[in-house]
Amino acid sequence: MSVIEPLLLLSPAILTFFLIWVLSKRKRKHLNLPPGNSGWPFLGETIAYLKPHPATSMGEFMEKHISRFGKVFRSNLFGEPTIVSADAGLNRFILQNEGRLFECSYPKSIGGILGKWSMLVLVGDMHRDMRMISLNFLSNARLRTHLLREVEQHTLLVLRSWKENTSFSAQEEAKKFTFNLMAKHIMSMEPGKPESEKLKREYITFMKGVVSAPLDFPGTAYRKALQSRSVILGVIERKMEERRHKVHDICDEVEEDDLLGWVLKQSDLSTEQILDLILSLLFAGHETSSVAITLAIFFLEGCPKAVQELREEHLAIARFKKQEGRESKLNWEDYKKMEFTQCVINETLRLGNVVRFVHRKALQNIRYKGYDIPCGWKVLPVFTAVHLDPLLYNEPQQFNPWRWQKGPSPPNMTMTSSFMPFGGGPRLCAGSELAKLEIAVFIHHLVLNFHWKLAEPDNALVFPFVDFPKGLPIKVHILT
Ligand code: HEM
Ligand SMILES: *[C@@H]1O[C@H](CO)[C@@H](O)[C@H](O)[C@H]1NC(C)=O
Ligand SMILES: *[C@@H]1O[C@H](CO)[C@@H](O)[C@H](O)[C@H]1NC(C)=O
Ligand SMILES: *[C@@H]1O[C@H](CO)[C@@H](O)[C@H](O)[C@H]1NC(C)=O
Repeated sequence: MSVIEPLLLLSPAILTFFLIWVLSKRKRKHLNLPPGNSGWPFLGETIAYLKPHPATSMGEFMEKHISRFGKVFRSNLFGEPTIVSADAGLNRFILQNEGRLFECSYPKSIGGILGKWSMLVLVGDMHRDMRMISLNFLSNARLRTHLLREVEQHTLLVLRSWKENTSFSAQEEAKKFTFNLMAKHIMSMEPGKPESEKLKREYITFMKGVVSAPLDFPGTAYRKALQSRSVILGVIERKMEERRHKVHDICDEVEEDDLLGWVLKQSDLSTEQILDLILSLLFAGHETSSVAITLAIFFLEGCPKAVQELREEHLAIARFKKQEGRESKLNWEDYKKMEFTQCVINETLRLGNVVRFVHRKALQNIRYKGYDIPCGWKVLPVFTAVHLDPLLYNEPQQFNPWRWQKGPSPPNMTMTSSFMPFGGGPRLCAGSELAKLEIAVFIHHLVLNFHWKLAEPDNALVFPFVDFPKGLPIKVHILT
């Protein structure tokens, strides 16, 4: 008779517990988890994963893990067991099966700061409704009728303030441009007005908290960001009240052309929901595209041949405009002619990787290429690792916009189908077309009006958001 038998007889509870333990262990054994390790308790390998590195690399953590374990491996990140994927096929599979096999799952701190109604954290029907509203506001039709004009106006507002031979931060300028544009398009706030400037200042504090560790103590960046969040929401709410009064006074006669006016009229969202929607659109639409524009300025500075080719493309467009007797404004036809510019944009996003990975979790046990992904585990599709894969892109570290050119041979499908700068599936970036339009129009006026060079050496780093430590200081020469 063994020693534990009487013990088990004594307590059926212990027996049940023991049985469950054995069974779960056996179940785990049957699972063929991808290789990898879990690192430290709780922290896991998060510190190594988030270690700053150049934006044009995938970072030491990814490089080492991929060479040791392959493109799919397991780890422990952000406090949870995680499957990391650097596999283009698995990444696509994950994004396409949103809501069925996988679901968006950002860390709690993101929801705390962006709000529980933010599009980034919502799932299911509520996400679908908010997405419809956003897509409506960023549709191709609106790009043609409203946004192209606004994008150009805001580009010129920023570029016309640039002075010959003085050093300034290109990143600041790009941020000014995208912020002004979003504030205008979302709630008709005019650049330069005191309320807009106040919003911009608060927003900077807010962003510092988004990228910081979520420690809610007095003095931390996270706590300050939570405070900024309520100031920002206050500003937006005041705008809402103004608007409600206006609509009331003139008995629905005013056609408001911004997002705020539209949601107030056409949707039955609560005030709290509208505030989070607007804040998350401001966030999603401002940070990403300003970084992309800064990266383009940076990469192009190191590639005079591409600037030359861009200048030819845009000079031709400008000449055509003149021939037609059109004064200054770009139209949709002009935009469609910016073919090489689109190659530059793709290459900037491929090499710079503005959004490096997204957060998902498995909704059930999933088998992929012989590996098991257990239900409830976090899953991180890492786009960067795919975009810098030498098997997919020749000399991936090189800025080579010509790789996107449609030559006589058919385009390489492996390359385009593994390229996911805007994510994919039902959560594909709602603003991808706007983002490309912003970059293209900015480039148009940049190459036609300026020569630029770096005033000091600077580099794009990942902290884990892409950022230039010195703000990319440049000096320009105005072309006449
Ligand atoms: C170069 C610039 C941009 C990049 C690289 C980018 C990238 C992304 C990515 C990768 C996602 C997917 C996130 C996920 O699946 O978890 C996303 C979502 C989103 N983006 Fe962008 N984005 C950019 C610009 C913009 C702009 C200008 C807007 C305009 C407001 C915008 C609005 C959104 C929205 C609303 C979502 C959420 C979509 C949803 O959940 O259904 N983005 N973006
Ligand atoms: C630009 O400014 C620098 C000093 O900041 C000066 O040495 C240089 O001569 C200036 N160049 C031109 C073209 O004005
Ligand atoms: C595309 O490129 C990859 C890697 O360079 C290569 O393996 C593949 O055969 C190419 N496909 C086509 C259709 O050219
Ligand atoms: C840029 O990438 C997109 C995929 O996001 C692709 O559809 C498009 O054809 C590419 N553009 C060029 C010029 O290759």
